[in-house]
Amino acid sequence: MTALTVYEVGPRDGLQNEPETIPTAAKLELIERLAVAGLRRIEVTSFVSPRWIPQLADADALAPLLPELPGLVYSALVPNAEGYERFRAAGGLSVAAFFVSASETHNRKNVNRSVAEHLERFRPVAERAKADGVRLRAYASTVCGCPYEGKVAVSAVVGLVEKLRALGADEISLGDTLGVGHPAQVRELVGAVAGAAPLERIALHCHDTYGRALANVQAGFEAGVRTFDASLGGLGGCPYAPGASGNVATEDVVDLFDAAGIATGVELGRLVEASAWLEDAVLRRPLPGRVYRARRGARAREGAPRPAGN
Ligand code: HMG
Ligand code: MG
Repeated sequence: MTALTVYEVGPRDGLQNEPETIPTAAKLELIERLAVAGLRRIEVTSFVSPRWIPQLADADALAPLLPELPGLVYSALVPNAEGYERFRAAGGLSVAAFFVSASETHNRKNVNRSVAEHLERFRPVAERAKADGVRLRAYASTVCGCPYEGKVAVSAVVGLVEKLRALGADEISLGDTLGVGHPAQVRELVGAVAGAAPLERIALHCHDTYGRALANVQAGFEAGVRTFDASLGGLGGCPYAPGASGNVATEDVVDLFDAAGIATGVELGRLVEASAWLEDAVLRRPLPGRVYRARRGARAREGAPRPAGN
């Protein structure tokens, strides 16, 4: 029994922000490696406009090829009815993930609609998902700050969480899209959101722009959250949140809870292997995850010839 869920979003949040398009076969290998490491909830792609996010234009081809393992649940972003048609036609996925911002300007930049219109247009899609037995995850983005508007009121986040509950969201992930949140803010936010939704249905999605994502995960855990989104090696970012960096690294989250003796069901060594493979064979640039870098450095030192006299 695991005490909490590490929700891997690297193949979606990570790869959507890569400057180069990754071949579908490499994405599939990445997903398989994540599954082998023990991750059981993986967000694999997006059924958004390929004009807006060309990196994930192969969603329709990728979904039917996903490896099947017991207990493995895949999600993908679905912004509208057209995305839902593609999601259903592709198969292989059981969670549709909607996304909407707590701030107007980020929402407009991200999906070309006001918050109210975006929610309203998604209502029939959410109803269809329910009828089809598809679970609905919903991201409330920019909860700790907006790249365009700055501060976002806690009341705006709580109001959005209420609307997402009314829409039928099974789980709501609070997104610090910009990575500006801090632990006291996360505690306040989670405390306020707990009045609008049971915390078993709340996830935390922390980007690491200011280096506080892991501290925010810890704060969220202490406040009662038990699902944490993370990206292998710290990949990621929202192309419509300029300046924002990747998600908290999966290795860092797993290591944090390993150190506290809290089971995640995920093997750190396998994550490090997966990041090393991704870095060397696919992206060919260093990944930022702290624990990954430390483990890789330690391995290289162990493997390196010792200087004479030592
Ligand atoms: P739009 O241009 O307003 O769409 O985009 P439209 O309805 O006016 O249609 C225009 C064209 O797009 C049409 O094609 C449609 O068929 C097509 P045309 O007739 O011109 O050839 N179209 C689609 N094609 C494929 N799939 C679809 C689809 N919908 C329309 N689903 C839209 C609106 C929402 C589609 C667009 O703005 C979009 O794709 N945005 C996605 C942006 C995105 O993916 N951002 C990153 C993910 S969010 C994130 O990273 C934050 C998160 O991690 C949490 C956090 O960190 O806080 C989740
Ligand atoms: Mg994100």
